[in-house]
Amino acid sequence: LAIAALGALAQPVLAQTALPPDADLRAAALEWFEPIPQTPQAPANNVLTPERVDLGAMLFFDPRMSLSGLFSCQTCHNVGLGGVDGLTTSIGHGWQQGPRNSPTMLNAIFNIAQFWDGRAPDLAEQAKGPVQAGVEMNNTPENLIGTLNSMPGYVEAFEAAFPDEATPVSFDNFARAIEAFEATLITPDSAFDRYLKGDDAAMTEQEKRGLAAFMDTGCTACHSGVNVGGQDYYPFGVVERPGGSVLPEGDRGRFTVTQTASDDYVFRAAPLRNVALTAPYFHSGAVWDLREAVQIMSSSQLGTELAEAQTDEIVAFLGTLTGKQPQVVHPILPVRASDSPLPQP
Ligand code: HEM
Ligand code: HEM
Repeated sequence: LAIAALGALAQPVLAQTALPPDADLRAAALEWFEPIPQTPQAPANNVLTPERVDLGAMLFFDPRMSLSGLFSCQTCHNVGLGGVDGLTTSIGHGWQQGPRNSPTMLNAIFNIAQFWDGRAPDLAEQAKGPVQAGVEMNNTPENLIGTLNSMPGYVEAFEAAFPDEATPVSFDNFARAIEAFEATLITPDSAFDRYLKGDDAAMTEQEKRGLAAFMDTGCTACHSGVNVGGQDYYPFGVVERPGGSVLPEGDRGRFTVTQTASDDYVFRAAPLRNVALTAPYFHSGAVWDLREAVQIMSSSQLGTELAEAQTDEIVAFLGTLTGKQPQVVHPILPVRASDSPLPQP
């Protein structure tokens, strides 16, 4: 230990970020960020009744929502893994590898829109995508509704979740129930949130320097708000395009959504909540090391090379964004009936 300490003393002073007093640092941070609320809030056009949230959890965990009977939302958005699958890009139906990395659904309710390119306006619209995507669950709405209607347990759960509706079991309500469940998957009480709320001791000195560096170097220009990102769209490679493994040429991001030239290689600023849990990084999932992801950001987005110490500070700060993970009890699922559609390859 003593030797290590001497070693540290012998090091040249590496561009550490100056540490402002807590009151000033907190005031500056509150200009950019907001803590995650302690309790879930209902999305527009939805309600968080226990019946609806519980149904959403059932649907989220039920692999029978996929054609093969093998893939559930949980496969690629594992609630025990920070909401991701931890793969470069997701593997779905028929062992096909999809084109993008799976982003977390934790706190996704706070994003401006869903997907790396924001092509779904909200979580309900989003939930209709994976079920039908050939490389994900490869199902059809008709087959899905047939599956649900074949099991009395599901029919009853939809009736309870959507009382007074003429057709409770519908593709729209499937999506709304999942949205209600996902709205509960928030991660409050991170060290960063406790610091924002006034607890000076919630973050270490290095983490605080990292917060200051994150603001001073300009990361906040793109990563701000409740989710420290997820709030707007920016070109990936504003200053310098990263190489083709990190930013594959074939994925032009929002351009595909808007067909507007200025949206070429534009992506939603990644939300950085729980980022320490969600490697690998970027829509390509090409980068496994958070330190390297931070260095790529500073060169590609800001045109600067961070000092080693500053990179470490920022990585330490990003670690404070890990919040209390939701404790989800695996739901009991309705039993299959004799006429439930069988899994298909
Ligand atoms: C994106 C939920 C099934 C892989 C998303 C997002 C949400 C979500 C909320 C957007 C998050 C964000 O933009 O920050 C769901 C639900 C599912 C489901 C509710 C079940 C109905 C799956 C499956 C896979 C998968 C089975 C893997 C085979 C992905 C990928 C993306 C994504 C790769 C990013 C796609 C893109 O940006 O184009 N999912 N997911 N998801 N999910 Fe899922
Ligand atoms: C993605 C950090 C500056 C826009 C990311 C990711 C990290 C990060 C860690 C990957 C997250 C993940 O994959 O889950 C930082 C840091 C910055 C910084 C530490 C300052 C040094 C910026 C700036 C912009 C920006 C200034 C906008 C000009 C984006 C975008 C993505 C992203 C668009 C998504 C890229 C993709 O499509 O894969 N950022 N960022 N970032 N950031 Fe930054």
